[in-house]
Amino acid sequence: MTKKNTLSVLMFALIVLFLFNHGATAQSELNIAKMSNYQKLSYRLKFIKNFKRLSMNTTLEDAKFLRIIVECSHARRGIEVGSANGFGAIHLGMGFELNQGKLITIEINPKMVRECRKNIKKMGLKNTVTCIKGDALQVLPKLKGTFDFIFLDANKPDYYKYFKAIEPKLSKGAVIVADNVIRGAALMKDFLDTMENNPNYDMVSFRASDEKKDGMAVIFKIK
Ligand SMILES: C[S@@+](CC[C@H](N)C(=O)[O-])C[C@H]1O[C@@H](n2cnc3c(N)ncnc32)[C@H](O)[C@@H]1O
Repeated sequence: MTKKNTLSVLMFALIVLFLFNHGATAQSELNIAKMSNYQKLSYRLKFIKNFKRLSMNTTLEDAKFLRIIVECSHARRGIEVGSANGFGAIHLGMGFELNQGKLITIEINPKMVRECRKNIKKMGLKNTVTCIKGDALQVLPKLKGTFDFIFLDANKPDYYKYFKAIEPKLSKGAVIVADNVIRGAALMKDFLDTMENNPNYDMVSFRASDEKKDGMAVIFKIK
């Protein structure tokens, strides 16, 4: 085979591979609503396994923890503050879908919003998760109704402000999860002190994953 022929065969193989991959993804996305629960779960787990995580994303273990806590708290109306490309949102979304609930995720960076929406769509979670573009400090006061689950993961020094904006809308028994409370403790001292000293809330901090040597706080609204 000549050098030119080898190159043509290689190009052809690459094009076929590209079309096959894209075709398969599009087909899976298209059919996700029609999949059995087992097929949907294995498609989603594969999607998560291949997800190109950014350094700012939650770790896989933290994301799994988020899904599990949504499921076991039977939360129905949740907010995530700081979506990035949606790695946390797709896990939370699976939990809210199981609970027949809804999640709003807020992100200020337009590029991240696009990525987040794409990933939510690919996971077949468009009916469960809504990604709002904007500054959470402006979006939160405008949200209507009450909420029973909050995940704080945007600008660390603003956790207290996010909390104050959401507090009037928190239902009794609501769960707040706040990320980076170990390495970012100094940046969110006002928030952590308030949670520690407020008799309406019960808080525990823990590390679900060793990956970033950080941890999360789980806060329960007692009354
Ligand atoms: C640590 S990342 C979020 C990771 C994501 N929660 C996950 O689970 O993968 C923080 C994100 O918050 C966004 N952010 C920062 N300040 C914000 C604000 N005021 N309102 C909304 N999003 C904000 C950043 O653009 C960034 O994408």
